[in-house]
Amino acid sequence: MDQLIDRIKSDGYVENDEILKVDSFINHQVDVNLMLAAGKDIANHFKDQGITKVVTIESSGISPALMSAMALDVPMIVLKKQPSKILNKDLLQTEITSFTKEINYELTIKNHLINENDHVLIVDDFMANGETATGALRLIRAAHATVAGVAVLIEKTFQNGSSKLKEQGIELYSLAKIKSLKNGKIEFERSVSNPPL
Ligand code: G4P
Repeated sequence: MDQLIDRIKSDGYVENDEILKVDSFINHQVDVNLMLAAGKDIANHFKDQGITKVVTIESSGISPALMSAMALDVPMIVLKKQPSKILNKDLLQTEITSFTKEINYELTIKNHLINENDHVLIVDDFMANGETATGALRLIRAAHATVAGVAVLIEKTFQNGSSKLKEQGIELYSLAKIKSLKNGKIEFERSVSNPPL
């Protein structure tokens, strides 16, 4: 999505070889018009797939997920992060190890919110090593729902999140694809929807 790529070029910055900071328009301050455009783009891509719910992970996935859910006219569910396992028959939980943030947590959903009649779209801000998305897939499958795909604002193609999804036969739709953050420089993948710098 050109609008997002242009914004990353103008306001994103490289923290280190692995981390892109987008605090002024996604992660801390949110550019609502940019999120609206992103949500419409994601919804348009998945519009014919019979999505019944959009699922995201707290917290930065909420803005693009909300806009996508609005455009698809379906509910949005936020998977919660708990520090430890809670024994409760109304909850489904799965442990996540975030390599990016070097933490473990339990991804949690109330089990009546998704069922076998649901066809779910997962929306998040970043795709890095894919641990969060893989955990979300485990929860959705545990609830007996099906998954249409995963949509992210920014995919870092030098990390292995997309191959993890591919192995499971899950489509990844990325609005911006970043090939490298080496030497303080943001390099985008070359593609029709993602032109070079
Ligand atoms: P992982 O397997 O390495 O854990 O990667 P994953 O894609 O699961 O992302 C883990 C968390 O790190 C996510 O935040 C994701 O948004 C964030 N993240 C990954 N790469 C980057 C990056 O280059 N820049 C920024 N700014 N964030 C990145 P989260 O756990 O969902 O938390 P929250 O930030 O949404 O609250």
